[in-house]
Amino acid sequence: MGRPRVLSGVQPTGALHIGNWIGAISSWVPLQESHDNFLCVVDLHAITVPHDPKQLSENTLSTAAIYLACGIDPKLSSIFIQSQIKAHSELCWLLNCVTPLNWLERMIQFKEKAVKQADNVSVGLLDYPVLMAADILLYDADLVPVGEDQKQHLELARNIAQQRINSRFGKGQKPLLKVPKGLIRKEGARVMSLTDGQSKMSKSDPNEGSRINLLDPPELINKKIKRAKTDTHIGLEFGNIDRPEADNLLTIYSVLSGMGRDSVAKECSEMGWGTFKPLLAEAAIEALKPIQKRYKDLINDKTELSIVLEQGRANAEVVAEKTLNRVRSALGLIERN
Ligand code: TYM
Repeated sequence: MGRPRVLSGVQPTGALHIGNWIGAISSWVPLQESHDNFLCVVDLHAITVPHDPKQLSENTLSTAAIYLACGIDPKLSSIFIQSQIKAHSELCWLLNCVTPLNWLERMIQFKEKAVKQADNVSVGLLDYPVLMAADILLYDADLVPVGEDQKQHLELARNIAQQRINSRFGKGQKPLLKVPKGLIRKEGARVMSLTDGQSKMSKSDPNEGSRINLLDPPELINKKIKRAKTDTHIGLEFGNIDRPEADNLLTIYSVLSGMGRDSVAKECSEMGWGTFKPLLAEAAIEALKPIQKRYKDLINDKTELSIVLEQGRANAEVVAEKTLNRVRSALGLIERN
């Protein structure tokens, strides 16, 4: 019996922001000690909406470099590019054939993204969650650390494994596919926009000022935080539904400063926005400094990155092929010699 496994990923659709880091990547780091981590850059997901090929290649490498810069250790984790492992596409097809169409039509993210694509909605966009299920199920993942917005996709992956594969095609004692559990952190699982405390911080928001990107220079972080939406009250508090900006910015501060919720609630209970914002900016700049430094080294000379990605690909491929063959054979597909 090996160690339990983790599978997660980020789409290389643009600059990664503190929401991606706080909600997902920061949870991967401590799990490396106890789990075998498979962390992919999900480039096949990124092409479900219109994309620029050159930009996609750049973003793919940049996202992998960010994983390393955030503290993923390639000795403990396998970092790889999703499209380089063909089993993802093949398992996706097999799962497509057992997944009811109406399960996909119900997906909130599909509905939201489809509105933005108007009359240009691809089949791939609808199929996005099945490809995500394939990513997870190929690695017999025990845990899938993600932000809160991925809860519904995760539930779909669990249902496909349990109801559509294991119960129909599984025979022996051991389930054909492992049914994974999500890992969603209590604080920071949904980091909100700087310009609107009611909407999620997102890579695709056309307003750059709505997010802090992991590679933003200090001056830009200062500027974005200075312009962040606030309210007219003095004294900052968590959990007041009428003050979503206060809750969001305090949460970001609490995570980035490492102080935790209680100390932050105490420190800021009588503070005005004018005092708080420079503190928040300082915490963000300090937290991102080591990531930015390491990222620069990795991207200026990509030798290390390509070695890591090749090793990650090799590790991942062995595991993925094994699972794929198990499913192919259970479905009655003739084995390859
Ligand atoms: P993506 O690239 O949209 O997001 C990557 C991760 O960041 C989390 N996240 C957030 N967390 C907190 N606050 C936010 N504002 C915020 N925005 C994004 C997301 O929940 C996610 O964990 N569908 C996935 C990519 C994927 C995947 C997978 C994830 C494809 N296959 C298999 C896990 C396992 C996604 O949303 O990517």
